[in-house]
Amino acid sequence: MTDGDRDQLLTAIESAVAAAPNANAAMQQAVRLLKDAIPYYSWAGIYLLDGDELVLGPYVGKPSPHTRIPLGKGICGAAASEKATIVVDDVNADPRYLACSLETRSEIVVPIMDGADVLGEIDIDSDQPAAFGAADRALLEDVAALLAEALSDG
Ligand code: SME
Repeated sequence: MTDGDRDQLLTAIESAVAAAPNANAAMQQAVRLLKDAIPYYSWAGIYLLDGDELVLGPYVGKPSPHTRIPLGKGICGAAASEKATIVVDDVNADPRYLACSLETRSEIVVPIMDGADVLGEIDIDSDQPAAFGAADRALLEDVAALLAEALSDG
């Protein structure tokens, strides 16, 4: 996608999040717009931190068997523990990976932060290997910042 397309998508997500009646609706809109706009995003979802577990919130794609992930488990748990974005080019080569779908080849997980606190994370899977580059990371980190505001506003 071009920088222009990316900016347009971010603007659309910003408007949808601002217009959403509550944080749950804001998260739903964000994952829907991301998945619809970017063909290689095969699954797009949000996990929210609840104590020391990540709980699956709104998502678009096949149902995941991983509806609760302890902080020490999976790529999702690692990103929340490290408070940093994790990009995995080949999920089958990463021992942390918890399989959600047999077709998934690569994954990006971006924490949603409120200052130093993890509120949750955006998780995107792709059926293409090494699907996620710098533009995806930048876009998803911007979306995470928008969602952090929506979540901390209640
Ligand atoms: N792959 C993730 C689990 C979530 S599913 O991809 C939706 C992980 O390894 O943490």
